[in-house]
Amino acid sequence: MSRRSRVLTAGDVDAWLRIRQASYGHPGDLSDPVLRRTLEARAPLSRGVDDDGELAAVATWYPYRFFIGGSEVPVGALAGVATAPWVRRRGHVRTLVREGLEELHQAGTGWALEHPFDPAFYGAMGFRTVPAGVTLRLPLSDWPGRRALPEFGPVPLSDPDLRRDRALFAARHNFALQRDDVADDGPDRAEPRWRVLSEPPSDGATPPVAYRTEGGYVVVATEGYGSDGTVVILDAAWRDARARERVLAMPNAWRGQVGWIRIDLPAHDPFALDLVGRYAHPRTLLQARIADLPAALRPLRAPSARLARSGVMEVHDPFAPWVHGRWAVTLDADGCTVETTDRSEDLTVTASALAAALAGVPVAPLLHAGEAEGDADLLRALAQTTADQPPFLGTIDHF
Ligand SMILES: CC(C)(COP(=O)(O)OP(=O)(O)OC[C@H]1O[C@@H](n2cnc3c(N)ncnc32)[C@H](O)[C@@H]1OP(=O)(O)O)[C@@H](O)C(=O)NCCC(=O)NCCS
Repeated sequence: MSRRSRVLTAGDVDAWLRIRQASYGHPGDLSDPVLRRTLEARAPLSRGVDDDGELAAVATWYPYRFFIGGSEVPVGALAGVATAPWVRRRGHVRTLVREGLEELHQAGTGWALEHPFDPAFYGAMGFRTVPAGVTLRLPLSDWPGRRALPEFGPVPLSDPDLRRDRALFAARHNFALQRDDVADDGPDRAEPRWRVLSEPPSDGATPPVAYRTEGGYVVVATEGYGSDGTVVILDAAWRDARARERVLAMPNAWRGQVGWIRIDLPAHDPFALDLVGRYAHPRTLLQARIADLPAALRPLRAPSARLARSGVMEVHDPFAPWVHGRWAVTLDADGCTVETTDRSEDLTVTASALAAALAGVPVAPLLHAGEAEGDADLLRALAQTTADQPPFLGTIDHF
């Protein structure tokens, strides 16, 4: 199939900015030099489709790494998707997503991620919403963290113990972002994903400060003061249960100064379960998709030899024909091999359901929904490889 999308260049920046302004309501100033430099640097990661000789639609695929099954894996993180209003509904974004996924497949990148404006839009292209955590906003007086404050103090974001806390925490959560990478998407390339944590989260918020206690930390900004003010926990991580208790006690230091707390937690954290019914704060969704099946499964390891399995699965993926097909899968404690096969299948599963199973969704509801059929033993074994790392992507790491 010949490609309709192309790599953007510095020469596209004017048209690109106009599409962004028309699609997102910003930038207000099309000549903003910082934004222009940023887009120029981002152009090699970005793809466009022309319509009648004019740039019509754009998308960027950030080559981030995320933790999946305890390993760091390359992911295509899709963002900045927009079509000029006068050429919408002509399939331009469908083309950009399909061809972008095909590029990921050819590069051996297993996964694609995005934050949808509407989950059904990318759902039709095989993306699946994953349970990537909850955001809570509640009166600090209802915060269940232990009242007695642990010993803690401010540290720089570069503190090696803080970095180690975060590395251990991130490796325990699927879809946690590897923040240590140097980006190739902007003029200032040193650790851009850590730098986000040094910027105030909103107009009027204080610059964030990291506070470390033994075994964990919080990064905190405050918005306002007094009963209407909020302590915003931009990031938190802990090494073990004791450290979690200390870390989640720290926000109590802001009682009296402000009346509210906002925090992201993994969906299965006990505080999240207790509070989400009353205090869930709207949150941008995360959707995941397998871009290349062998690459997505290869890093997975059976947690024990007892959970080693092999079998044939037929994967349904109408949007990505290179994922669609019959695959022989061998999973053991050393890794996972995946090859196309003519053997008859043990199991049929949609690519979307396979992504869900690897993202912490139990296999039973996938079977009940008819998204997987047949002998589910292999699917359960694959799901086990990531089951001990429940998904979590904090809002601060949204891309
Ligand atoms: C959303 C947007 C990117 C769609 O671009 P587009 O080029 O019109 O999309 P396509 O024509 O490729 O549409 C692909 C499919 O989605 C459907 N679709 C398009 N816009 C849609 C919308 N707003 N809501 C739901 N479905 C939509 C199309 O009908 C098409 O379905 P089909 O393949 O079954 O016919 C575009 O409207 C836009 O730029 N919006 C403003 C910015 C924005 O929201 N970006 C997305 C950030 S995640």
